[in-house]
Amino acid sequence: MSVYLLDYGAGNVRSLLNAVNKLGYDIISVKEPSDILKADKIIFPGVGAFGCAMDALVAKGYVEPIKQYIASGKPFMGICVGMQTMFEGSDETPGVKGLGIVPGIVKKFNSDNKAVPHMGWNEAELLKVQPKDGQESFGINPSTVYYFVHSYAVPYSEALKEWTFTTTQYGDEVFVSSIQRDNVFCTQFHPEKSGFAGLRILRSFLSGQTNFDDKEILYKTPTPGHDCFTKRIIACLDVRANDMGDLVVTKGDQYDVREKPDGDSKGDVRNLGKPVELAKRYFEEGADEITFLNITSFRNCPLGDLPMLEVLRRTSETVFVPLTIGGGIRDIVADGRTYSALEVAGTYFRSGADKVSIGSDAVYIAEEYYANNRVPTGKTAIETIANAYGAQAVVISVDPKRVYVNSPSDTTHHVIKQSTPGPNGEEYCWYQCTVKGGREGRDLDVRQLVTACEALGAGEILLNCMDKDGTNSGYDLELIADTRSAVRIPVIASSGAGRVEHFSEVFEKTGVEAALAAGIFHRKEVPIAAVKEHLREKQIHVRGVDLTL
Ligand SMILES: *[C@@H]1O[C@H](CO)[C@@H](O)[C@H](O)[C@H]1NC(C)=O
Repeated sequence: MSVYLLDYGAGNVRSLLNAVNKLGYDIISVKEPSDILKADKIIFPGVGAFGCAMDALVAKGYVEPIKQYIASGKPFMGICVGMQTMFEGSDETPGVKGLGIVPGIVKKFNSDNKAVPHMGWNEAELLKVQPKDGQESFGINPSTVYYFVHSYAVPYSEALKEWTFTTTQYGDEVFVSSIQRDNVFCTQFHPEKSGFAGLRILRSFLSGQTNFDDKEILYKTPTPGHDCFTKRIIACLDVRANDMGDLVVTKGDQYDVREKPDGDSKGDVRNLGKPVELAKRYFEEGADEITFLNITSFRNCPLGDLPMLEVLRRTSETVFVPLTIGGGIRDIVADGRTYSALEVAGTYFRSGADKVSIGSDAVYIAEEYYANNRVPTGKTAIETIANAYGAQAVVISVDPKRVYVNSPSDTTHHVIKQSTPGPNGEEYCWYQCTVKGGREGRDLDVRQLVTACEALGAGEILLNCMDKDGTNSGYDLELIADTRSAVRIPVIASSGAGRVEHFSEVFEKTGVEAALAAGIFHRKEVPIAAVKEHLREKQIHVRGVDLTL
């Protein structure tokens, strides 16, 4: 049997290849239109914008062969934008025609009372019920959650009944989260990023054992009030080389990663484990995402030799949740040539990253944006990467520190009232953005940074706080709540977690979508499982650990 991957060159297909290989199958990339009709099975993953995906299919001459292949009755599976292209069109790119296999138009989520993109884990409710109910069909288990990342979706309607396999509710909207009819099966979520629960879906497609009989379907309608979107727990690994040249995960206090020199210790880099092994451990313990940060990325280095690329390649063989990489995502000069930030990001995506995180450079980009009267140039790293790979692929990592003031009129910056006064009794502070790993403060506050980056197309905010980092005293709730209310994209709380209660507190008091921690996970002070158990007790919906294949 030959399984083909229909790849139009956008995004991270390595995870999908790794998932298929792990299940014991080989997969070949489609190189030319005639390959499509040679396939016995096709998987078509997609990321980025609808228009880019369709333009690529047209330019490569794939449209007619895909339609012929589907008409031939051979199994076809689309993922995310790969599913959206099955429809007639999308509001994301009006005027660009989809493949038109399924009637309907893909619409944008409203962000009235929820963050957009819909980024995270959510349930898929089976609407084509079988008499032998209670079992997985197409590997889909209605009581587990899958990883979604998209701003556009097809709203569910009765008219789509014949095609709708599952629906998912996000806030007040119910959308089609997978479609199935005859030989076509597509998911809006990413099975290759949904842990072992997702791998079971891929295996069902690859083996043909779908446990689904299309002569015995009972059609259901979506259960009202069924929003099962979960809060995400993210493990973060600060990676650098130690003095022996080995890659280690490290963690500093207020960004200082060296041991205090005393006695025998000469101030070595703190070694908290090896990145690939640690990432695998966190995946198995139930982390919903893993972030790698290159904390020595301000130097230049030949692009192809970055050790982080190898970390990503090896991690994506065993870790089937989203991976983010931060550090060094900017234009770089190496080996006598310049690589654009877009090329650097593309290299990371091809190595297995799903998102890139931009830190210092986002500050410079925002400064330029304001200097230029808020007119986007279209040339920044944020814009170029978001255009090619989608907003969800661009995370802005914010590293602020507090500047205390007595009254809001003491500064032009956006101030936040503090529940605990500053060292001289100050009741307010503004949060100053820093660059170069926290070494230099700039004349830009967090609110200015995040609103500029959102306007330029970033898809998520990773919000640190230098005053809280390494303190184990809890997240900076005032800063996080204030930032959460300033943007419509998802916000990840970071810096300060020391106990399980800090996680429930940040979700309850700020409404953020995700919480990140590093040191307490590395040192095994607070296991991820304990965090999730505590959140469940607090009635906060989280993903369970599922390691059955
Ligand atoms: C981090 O970035 C620097 C500068 O590009 C590079 O020298 C170093 O090898 C990178 N580290 C990893 C783990 O990729």
